[in-house]
Amino acid sequence: MSSIASAEGPEGRALLRPFRRGDEADLADICLRTGDGGADATGLYRSSGLLADIFVLPYVAKHLDAAFVIDDGQRVVGYVVCAPDTAAFERWFRYEWWPPREEGHRRAAGDSAKDAAMLRYAAAIGGRPVPFVDEHPAHLHIDLLPEAQGSGWGRALIDALVQDLGRRGIPGLQLTAGGTNTGAIAFYRRIGFTELRRTPGGVTFGRPIAAVR
Ligand SMILES: CC(C)(COP(=O)(O)OP(=O)(O)OC[C@H]1O[C@@H](n2cnc3c(N)ncnc32)[C@H](O)[C@@H]1OP(=O)(O)O)[C@@H](O)C(=O)NCCC(=O)NCCS
Repeated sequence: MSSIASAEGPEGRALLRPFRRGDEADLADICLRTGDGGADATGLYRSSGLLADIFVLPYVAKHLDAAFVIDDGQRVVGYVVCAPDTAAFERWFRYEWWPPREEGHRRAAGDSAKDAAMLRYAAAIGGRPVPFVDEHPAHLHIDLLPEAQGSGWGRALIDALVQDLGRRGIPGLQLTAGGTNTGAIAFYRRIGFTELRRTPGGVTFGRPIAAVR
């Protein structure tokens, strides 16, 4: 369990705290509402739970102690989730997490090309070597609802995660932002990530983590 209990926010109303069971529905909702390159993806996919089953729920299923949320007192409005060992996580995703879920999403998707592309993406996870894992074994996903953005919560979530990974001796962290998500790209640069790779699909950033004793 993380040693970070909670921290008051920039305006003292909301709270940064570790993820706990029961937060999953809020996380899935945030994932959908930020899932189109940072904008609302509601209605984009015919299988409405597809994005959450790929980008957020497997992380808290496998690593609930490496996830932090922003709680405004009513609900969770933002999260960071993480796989401390990306290669191991992707193998687990491929052989345990995805197979029992794939068929349901496929049925819900029908002939939607958008869903089909995302299903291909999910099916490829764990089937190829992960780049940069020697120096950056962990990877993350972070999303905040629009009303929680721009108040320092993104930085605070990453700081909490980095501190936690530092305590576990994880040497580095990476993430890939969609190439059109200019806001997120500016954010990662601003908070100390450096660009590792740029492809037509996105920009991969990395950040070394100092060991915390
Ligand atoms: C990207 C995101 C996580 C950033 O979190 P945030 O709480 O809005 O960012 P913060 O307020 O902590 O900003 C931290 C720093 O980054 C800068 N920054 C944040 N968003 C920025 C933007 N869109 N453009 C330029 N700079 C930005 C801030 O100015 C701030 O710099 P400062 O500390 O010098 O003032 C959040 O906006 C978000 O969830 N967006 C939608 C979903 C998304 O795109 N997720 C990432 C997918 S890869």
